[in-house]
Amino acid sequence: MQAKTWHLGDSHQSLVLASFADTLPEVVYWGPPLPDTEDLKQLAAASATDVTGGMVDRNAPISLCPEASQTFPGQIGLTGRDPEGRTLAPQFRFESEASSSHGLTLTYADSQHDLSLIFELSLTPGTSLFRMQTRLETAREITVDWLAAPVLPMPAHTDEMIEFSGRWCAEFQTRRLPFASGARMRDNRTGRSDHAHFPALIACSSATSNTGGEAYAFHYGWSGGHRMVAEELADGRRQVQFGHASASMKKGRSFSTAPLFATFSAAGFNGAAIRFQRHLRENIVVGAREPRPVHYNCWEAVYFDHDLEELKAIATRAAGLGAERFVLDDGWFGLRDDDTSSLGDWAIDKRKYPDGLAPLIAHVKALGLEFGIWFEPEMINEDSELFRAHPDWVLGSPDQVRGRQQLVLDMARENVRAYLYDCISAILAQNDIGYIKWDHNRVLPVVDAAQTDGVYALIDRLRADFPHVEIESCASGGGRIDFGILERTQRVWLSDSNDALERQRIQHEAALFLPASVTGSHVGPRVSHTSGRTLNMSLRAWTAAQRHLGFEMDPRELSDEEIATLKEVTGWWKANRNWMMRADILRLDVSDPAMIAEQQLAEDGERFVVFAALLRTSDPILQQPVRLTGLDAGASYRINLVNRENAPGLSRGAPLLKEKSLVASGQYLMSHGLILPWRFPETIWVIEGQRQ
Ligand code: DGJ
Repeated sequence: MQAKTWHLGDSHQSLVLASFADTLPEVVYWGPPLPDTEDLKQLAAASATDVTGGMVDRNAPISLCPEASQTFPGQIGLTGRDPEGRTLAPQFRFESEASSSHGLTLTYADSQHDLSLIFELSLTPGTSLFRMQTRLETAREITVDWLAAPVLPMPAHTDEMIEFSGRWCAEFQTRRLPFASGARMRDNRTGRSDHAHFPALIACSSATSNTGGEAYAFHYGWSGGHRMVAEELADGRRQVQFGHASASMKKGRSFSTAPLFATFSAAGFNGAAIRFQRHLRENIVVGAREPRPVHYNCWEAVYFDHDLEELKAIATRAAGLGAERFVLDDGWFGLRDDDTSSLGDWAIDKRKYPDGLAPLIAHVKALGLEFGIWFEPEMINEDSELFRAHPDWVLGSPDQVRGRQQLVLDMARENVRAYLYDCISAILAQNDIGYIKWDHNRVLPVVDAAQTDGVYALIDRLRADFPHVEIESCASGGGRIDFGILERTQRVWLSDSNDALERQRIQHEAALFLPASVTGSHVGPRVSHTSGRTLNMSLRAWTAAQRHLGFEMDPRELSDEEIATLKEVTGWWKANRNWMMRADILRLDVSDPAMIAEQQLAEDGERFVVFAALLRTSDPILQQPVRLTGLDAGASYRINLVNRENAPGLSRGAPLLKEKSLVASGQYLMSHGLILPWRFPETIWVIEGQRQ
């Protein structure tokens, strides 16, 4: 059967699509790059599968939108109803194609139902990340319950998948599951990307590690909650679908999925991770301040208890530690003395700030710091002027369950967005503010894409009018992290856990998608407020220094020794941030499960730093060598242990790095690895490498 074929590829991967007899296109190859001489028509023909007893006479393809009308035996890509309420079962046929240097738009139509299905696919040069989106258009108003972004088949050797769950203070929990007959489905109906559902999936084989093996990684760039289906059909074939959470879309004439970002890696999870990290840095995030400033955030120091003189004293100390941006958190507006009131009343609390924010801002600016401020625009408390004036602005039914005693504003309403724009822009226009921490502390009572579209519209308007104001996406920590929100913000608050041990794990898993430059990480109080754990300053400071560094403790609690350590680490971070905030974060495969280690490799490959944290006591008494990655095997590197003074008295031997630096080849470092001095649990070694 004659087929139309298309190829999207670069030096890392090839994706080949074929459309037989003008039916919807299907991926007939996705993997390592194919030679230029490959005959795509032959590949298309070779993709035909056999049929035997007990099967229909032709296997329905896993097309970019598997169709019920083709007797597809699994989850279909589009479900909906026509204006008369009848289930849609369209039969799409080729209409047109348009290609650009790196992309392809394919349009298919179903004349019976007057539907057009448009696929937009592109492969970004340099970062080798696919961006894929499906749009459905119709002349009459229809109801759509499910529309998948372009659907991709997974090869038989990807017999495992890694998916993401989590919770408040423990985001980015990964689970490695076998593909098995049937569908693994996640339907995140919280209305935000959420702690429990980072919208991503990695399909891999059981042999794939951080540094080797094949992986297919996906991320759905949408902040309103996603649905994912990873299915093994009864005939053994596999498919992956991503789209908005079910029932997000409802009625209309035009429906669009968010972009699905995807990549194939033949170099383990790191091969995929660095493409997402680079793509986010280079193609998604706009307007991030450089160099990335060291933060101070006052939340865990004062909570709602704002006192001008106290805040000034804290700012002075934070500046002395090296902070460059002071963020005034929750509690400055309305009559907000706790979390039961005032959300929606975005006017400065005259009881706490009789002369407005100007005296605090002037103090902070005189110290040389930028001033940032907290908002939670989409939320409303019943105990607020706003609620008393506009109870009808609330999303969902009056008797809904509250979250943190608060309700959600209906962001689809133009007047709600206009009110919020007026409040926020007034504060920004009247004060010298360079930064907003934009919070979102509860799940939504109803799932509706219009809510997310409304939030995007408000942020876009504010960004257009205040382009110098950076925004951090926070939702009780990492509840709204995705490429959709990061198109409009410059940093994420990864977690409300400032416990360095927990942070080690969370930021390590998040690095599968997030670069250091957007990932906020703060040095918290000595006794963690969310875990009760007491951790030493070296571990706390170096852990935060692995990402976008900040402080969140009350600086008045610090001992002289803690101050000295924190200043030293902050000084090191400032000296290295220019290359480190652009480096690839490579997760190291370690043989000791008590250890988490990563290597940040500079863009030019000339230098790197390794952070090797020991979370708990190791089983073996000797430290296992840490094997590096991504180096030039034939080159020599000088290796130095930055914090060798942290070696405890119980380390009695003479590993070379304890005394001085060493020079070794990339081959040795990657194959044998570095022997580190013995140490206590809950400590971290920091190792620098420089190409000779
Ligand atoms: C939740 C955030 O994650 C915290 O950092 C803090 O900003 C509080 N909200 C304030 O209410």
